[in-house]
Amino acid sequence: MKLRHIALALCAVATTATTATTYAQQAPKPEDQIRYRQSIMNVIGRQFGMLAGMAKGEVPYNKEAAVKAAGLVETLSTLPAPLFGPGLDKGAPTKAGAKIWTEPDKFKAALEKMQGEVKKLPAAASDPATLKVAAGDVGKTCKGCHDDYREKEFRN
Ligand code: HEC
Repeated sequence: MKLRHIALALCAVATTATTATTYAQQAPKPEDQIRYRQSIMNVIGRQFGMLAGMAKGEVPYNKEAAVKAAGLVETLSTLPAPLFGPGLDKGAPTKAGAKIWTEPDKFKAALEKMQGEVKKLPAAASDPATLKVAAGDVGKTCKGCHDDYREKEFRN
């Protein structure tokens, strides 16, 4: 009897742990989603910053590094869209403008414009002249969205 109780108790613990893990995977807290989108943006910023530096001649051109960075920017640019979804306008300090949630279609269009230009980066990165043009085009889409949808200061 005693052993059976222990076994049942262990089962209950295991079930609770599994449920908690599943829940965490399905519905991360807004706070975590906001931090995650900022992390992605920061990596995009660092990787693209290097490409922009090469395009401007501020950083020596390096083909291998450029192609790698371009691939990362392309891959990462596919991640943020759902992280600007409903309910993710607050929950942690953020620079995301409130307008994102009042005109989601326009924001989505700005994101897609960036993704469209970013797709051209990996092929362009293997040559300094084509990289210069492609990085310039991508940079305009970053700036365009930041001008419209990113606040200068963190808000909560
Ligand atoms: C569709 C809109 C949009 C596009 C396109 C976009 N961003 Fe952003 N970006 C944002 C928003 C909104 C934030 C603020 C997110 C937050 O704080 O929650 C942000 C934050 C950042 C940050 C974090 C730094 C900070 O101010 O805290 C960096 C770096 C960044 N973006 C770089 C880029 C780069 C580089 C590109 C182009 C390759 C780009 N972004 C394209 C909307 C955009």
